[in-house]
Amino acid sequence: MDDKQQLKRRDFMSIATWAIGILIGAGMGLPAIAYIIGPALREDEAFGWIRLGSISKVELGIPTLFKAKIERQTGWIVNEEEITVYVLTENGRDFIAMSNICTHLGCRVRWIKDQDQFFCPCHNGVFNKAGGVVAGPVPRPLDRFEVKVEDDQLFILGG
Ligand code: FES
Repeated sequence: MDDKQQLKRRDFMSIATWAIGILIGAGMGLPAIAYIIGPALREDEAFGWIRLGSISKVELGIPTLFKAKIERQTGWIVNEEEITVYVLTENGRDFIAMSNICTHLGCRVRWIKDQDQFFCPCHNGVFNKAGGVVAGPVPRPLDRFEVKVEDDQLFILGG
């Protein structure tokens, strides 16, 4: 074996050692980096179906208030939020779920039983019991959630 061949062999061994080192480093390092920075890159998560409670709580023809807790993760920060939803049924079988957030500037509406309508105290917005616009500066009806009933439990689709 001459000097030239020995030099090539030494170069090959050196390159192979580096290549193996890089492969091992990438194999261990990339998942670790993805684990560390992954939450920061993630957008808010969709919530899926959120259980509100029993359908027996809903009075016929009267919007009934339900509250549920959800966890919203943004990056590494997890916040617990309470969402408030009015549920209405006229027949005990078909339900609509409405947000209690006014569609004008986001104040919370409340049900005024005597007047049979929702009222927003911020700018006197008024909605009927199905969430339709009645008066005030509100641009559109109350937002609705998709609803399902399973085993007499109400669920809304959050997002
Ligand atoms: S925020 Fe409700 S009427 Fe303005």
